[in-house]
Amino acid sequence: MSKWTHRHLVDLHDLSREDIEMIFESANSFREVNTRDVKKVPTLRGKSVICLFFEPSTRTRVSFELAAKRLSADTINISGSSSSLTKGETILDTAKNLEAMNVDLLIVRHPVAGIPRVLADNCKAGIINGGDGMRAHPSQALLDMYTIQERFGKIDGLHVGIVGDILHSRVARSNIVGLLKMGAKVSVCGPATLMPPGIESYGVDVVESVDDLIKEVDVLMLLRLQKERQKQKYLASVNEYSTVWGVNEKRLEAAKKEILIMHPGPTNRGVELSGDVADGGHSVILNQVTNGIAIRMAILYLLSTVRDEGLVSTQ
Ligand code: CP
Repeated sequence: MSKWTHRHLVDLHDLSREDIEMIFESANSFREVNTRDVKKVPTLRGKSVICLFFEPSTRTRVSFELAAKRLSADTINISGSSSSLTKGETILDTAKNLEAMNVDLLIVRHPVAGIPRVLADNCKAGIINGGDGMRAHPSQALLDMYTIQERFGKIDGLHVGIVGDILHSRVARSNIVGLLKMGAKVSVCGPATLMPPGIESYGVDVVESVDDLIKEVDVLMLLRLQKERQKQKYLASVNEYSTVWGVNEKRLEAAKKEILIMHPGPTNRGVELSGDVADGGHSVILNQVTNGIAIRMAILYLLSTVRDEGLVSTQ
C-alpha cells in the first residue's frame, strides 16, 4: 500500500495514478459526512486553512471552505483587493506573513500561471492551487475524474471529449493530464483560434466537428466560453460559436445512451450548452459540485497528514 507524500497540490503532473486513486479512496470515506444532519468531523481540529483568491470564484472557494469547516479546521478568506497586496506587498511576502501566523494550508487562485509553484517552493505551509492562469486547476480535474469514476466504475478505457475554449482553459489542461494518467482516451474539439498550438503533443486527438465527437465519446466535457477574452476577436460572434460548437438536445440524439455531460461551471446557458442539456438526464454538472466537497476534504486531509508525520516531500 503506497503512502501519501506530497506537501502541496500544485499540478496533476506531480501526482501518480496511485496518488489520484488514494485521493478518490479518501473522498469515498468523507463523502458520507456531507449527507449528515451535523456535517462535521474532528479530523482537522486545530488546523488553520486560508483561501487567498485573486480571481472571482463561487465553486472552488466555497467548496474548499466548506470542506475545511466540515473537517473542523479554522478558515479565513482573503481576496486580493482586501489584502495588503494593494499597498505593494508581494504575494510571496503575503504568504510568508500568513505562514508566520502558523497557518497550515493556503489555497491560492491567481491569474498568473506559476504563482502556486513559486509559493510551494518557498513556503512551509502546504500550498493548494485553486487555479493559476491558463495552467492548472488540479482540484477541479480531480472532482471531474471522481464523478466519471462514480458513474462508470472506472476511467481506464473511457473516451472523454473536451469541447470549447481549450486555449484559455486550465480545467482542460488539468483534465487532460489526469485523464491520460488514469487510462482514458481524450479528444479535444473547438474553434482553431481557441486551440493551443501543438495540442497533439499533450497526447490528445483533435476532432474537427462536435457532431463527429458526440457519436464517439462516453463523456462530453463542455468548457465555458470565456467571454471576457473575446475582445481579442478569437470568434466572429458568440452566436456563431453557439451554432457551431454548442450542445443541444438535437445534437445529443447521436450520442451513446449512457453519455455524461459535464461542465466545470460557471455555465453560459445558450452558448456552450442549451438549458435543456444542462438540466437533462445526461448532465452531472451538479454532481460535480457535490463531489467537489468530498474531493477537497480528501486533499486537505492528505496534505495535513504528511505535514503531521513530517514526511519528506516530493512536491
Ligand atoms: N469551476 C470553477 O473553478 O468554478 P469557480 O470559478 O466558481 O470556482
